[in-house]
Amino acid sequence: MGYILGIDNGTSGTKTILCDESGRILADVTVEYPCYSPKPGWSEQDPNDWWNAAVDSSRKAIEKAGINGSEVVGIGLSGQMHGLVCLDKGGSVLRKALLWNDQRTVKECEEITERAGGLSKLLEMVSNPALTGFTAPKILWVRNNEPEIFEKIDMMLLPKDYIRYKLTGEYATEVSDASGTLLLDVKNRCWSKELLSKLDINIEKLPKVYESPEVSGKVSKKVAEMIGIPEGTPVAGGGGDQAAGAVGNGIVKTGIISAMMGTSGVVFAHADQVETDPQGRIHTFCHAVPGKWHMMSCILAAGGSFQWFRNTLGGEEVAKAKELGCDPYELLVADAEKVAPGSEGLYFLPYLTGERSPHNDPYARACFIGLTPRHTKAYMARAVMEGATYAMNDTVEIMRELGVESSQIRLSGGGARSPMWAQMQADIYGCTTALTSSTAGSAYGAMILGGVGAGVWSSVPEACEAVIKVTNTTEPNSEVAKIYRKLHPMYKKLYLTLKDNFKEMASLVE
Ligand code: XUL
Repeated sequence: MGYILGIDNGTSGTKTILCDESGRILADVTVEYPCYSPKPGWSEQDPNDWWNAAVDSSRKAIEKAGINGSEVVGIGLSGQMHGLVCLDKGGSVLRKALLWNDQRTVKECEEITERAGGLSKLLEMVSNPALTGFTAPKILWVRNNEPEIFEKIDMMLLPKDYIRYKLTGEYATEVSDASGTLLLDVKNRCWSKELLSKLDINIEKLPKVYESPEVSGKVSKKVAEMIGIPEGTPVAGGGGDQAAGAVGNGIVKTGIISAMMGTSGVVFAHADQVETDPQGRIHTFCHAVPGKWHMMSCILAAGGSFQWFRNTLGGEEVAKAKELGCDPYELLVADAEKVAPGSEGLYFLPYLTGERSPHNDPYARACFIGLTPRHTKAYMARAVMEGATYAMNDTVEIMRELGVESSQIRLSGGGARSPMWAQMQADIYGCTTALTSSTAGSAYGAMILGGVGAGVWSSVPEACEAVIKVTNTTEPNSEVAKIYRKLHPMYKKLYLTLKDNFKEMASLVE
């Protein structure tokens, strides 16, 4: 029996799982690291922390599973997307990595759109608009603001691809993660020479692009000894965390979409053909299934809004949960459940860190609107959950408008663990929601891609068919769904009404 490692280089930590060839998880280890915000809106991490966490979690996973490391046959990688790792000629890190949720590149996004010849030309070349979170604007930011560092750059990598480099010595990426750089010709699955030339970025400083299950390198002798696995273990391309998470949830054919409610919230749909939203409200990226694509939206603070609520207003519940030995979220949700759908007219806009999909607005801000003296903390908790779900539904609706079929939405992330939130999602999306046997998210998808690369399964869909099962479904409650259908349009109107004020507010505090 061989074993496969799935390493997910996330934002709060690296999660590594070890599975056998039937896809059973034998060990699951997370090692955390800090995130730095040297200025408002900036978000950075040290790639050396990622590497230490990858080694540490892999070693611990092997130990915890109680297997012999020499039987590891393959590795798959996934990770937070869009980050920029700058390396010098010797492969050393030149500065902390700029992350997906960093908002410093508003000017560079304008520069890119202008150099490209406008939004429609940009969509034609790379299928996506310039968004502050993406990698290309970060490259321009370093060039515009830290020329002494830019000069020394020999290679630019995405976060998980730095782990690959350390494991194998290879500079490589794969199509799903590369799509989120804004430099990939998503239709043809290769770097866009046209945009690179318009932006004056040297293609030599970008890694080779693979399909996600393809073997992109082999573990070096030194690292094999460090982790305790065979030298030459194949490392598959892997996937950006969202594409890998979708693989881990079985979203590898049309008809089923997924809604992942983690810190960010992502709605993900498989596509057999490349489809682009002409307004650029949702992303069009290559899928981790060779020759396929996906459409995806990213809400920056979905579960993150509820986490903010717990941290800021849930002190009482946190203390009580400690006493009872339970999770404070359970207490907050139990209170929210007592409030009727619609929170008696109270709305929460979840734009704590600006918003990506569908508004592409770094200035947007969160707010409660509609408070009356009758509204208690329980109402506010429910309004936060409803607001995050309305935000997700904004993009479900756009996908439906673009012709994506969505008879079932597979849920994952923290928002899926609570039955009340799963029901709320079914009611707001207005369709059946489902949970699957796969609970390890992107790390599980990475493991599947690693297994396909190592020849354990012959294709990604075949692997998903073999290892992922639907375990539970929730039907919408027609009465409640009717209430949400009536209330959601006002939620949308509130952002449109406040949009200009948000921008003006930002100029007042600059
Ligand atoms: C996806 C995105 C986030 C990050 C961090 O576009 O920005 O999901 O990948 O997880």
